[in-house]
Amino acid sequence: MSILVTGIAELTTNDDELGTLADAAVVLDGDRVAWVGPAVDAPAADERVDVEGRAVLPGWVDSHTHLVFAGDRTAEFAARMAGKPYTAGGIAVTVEATRAATDEELSVGLRRHVAEAVAQGTTYLETKTGYGLTVEDEVRSARLAAEHADEVTFLGAHLVPPGTDPQSYVDLVTGEMLDAVAPHVRWADVFCETGAFDESQSRAVLTAAAAKGLGLRVHGNQLGPGPGVRLAVELNAASVDHCTYLTESDVDALANSDTVATLLPACDLSTRQPLPDARALLDAGATVALASNCNPGSSYTSSMAYCVTTAVLQMRMSVAEAVRAATWGGARALRREHEVGIVRPGARADLHVLNAPSATHLAYRPGVPLTWAVWRAGKRVS
Ligand code: NIG
Repeated sequence: MSILVTGIAELTTNDDELGTLADAAVVLDGDRVAWVGPAVDAPAADERVDVEGRAVLPGWVDSHTHLVFAGDRTAEFAARMAGKPYTAGGIAVTVEATRAATDEELSVGLRRHVAEAVAQGTTYLETKTGYGLTVEDEVRSARLAAEHADEVTFLGAHLVPPGTDPQSYVDLVTGEMLDAVAPHVRWADVFCETGAFDESQSRAVLTAAAAKGLGLRVHGNQLGPGPGVRLAVELNAASVDHCTYLTESDVDALANSDTVATLLPACDLSTRQPLPDARALLDAGATVALASNCNPGSSYTSSMAYCVTTAVLQMRMSVAEAVRAATWGGARALRREHEVGIVRPGARADLHVLNAPSATHLAYRPGVPLTWAVWRAGKRVS
């Protein structure tokens, strides 16, 4: 069945030839985009939806979340707001709660958080393991994640479980755990940071995962300057996420690589870190993505609009740059940019209609829920 979406005041396509169109229309056919162009030229379709002068974007592509978890860290957040610093150690609290949860409890949480994201315009979403940290719990996390998310990442190297010898744990992650989890995931990741995994441990995790055929992602330079970005670029990771503390040579390395710099501003605000220097990255020519980093510890939001608003108001990104980073950039970080995060014939039929005449309202009206309608793979889901 085909649907003509017309009455679009401003259509962001992210396609180099189509650009941003005024007075536009889109035809969806099944789960694909079939036609894009000026409303006056639109072909007929089985059904017609008039969005009456609203703006339409590709659905948000959230390329970094941690949604397989149980438990609550409100008290840790409150302590942080009272001045206590964020450390990687809080991850252990969620690990304990996650291990204790049933499959059903974890699935309920996954379903609830994915639905919350979709209702706000997210149409493609990555999520990670990383709160299991035993072979059995990581496999279970990967299996459940694959039932709810579009992309799954193995993050056994999230934290060395308290009381475990670090080298034995790296051996487990790069051996038995990787073998068991690999069939369920497309990506592998490592938290390369003081208090988590150092450069040589991170290198061991990433090279073992690459040898197993997994794509690479890195958590890097979140809590201080470090080797994460350099390592991600050297190993040709698809993305290095956080990038809060960058040196000039990190920026240069990213600009001269295929590695996407994925910025997580909601996390930086929630952990009282500075915001990353998006301007330096963009001006140098690096590819930037924005993602929510939704997790119970450092960034408990699924709102991509909040990330876009923050990027514009506080990180000197233009609205066009921020919207592109939260759609096409996320897709590029997942190596799916030809299929999602873009509105052109053949792409997945993922549309986000704003209750506003232009995307500028995302920053002009901060905090106002602006999602009016969402199509995900051709289905109206909001
Ligand atoms: O991306 N940095 C590492 N992992 C998560 C935080 C996880 C947690 O605190 O539970 C992040 O911020």
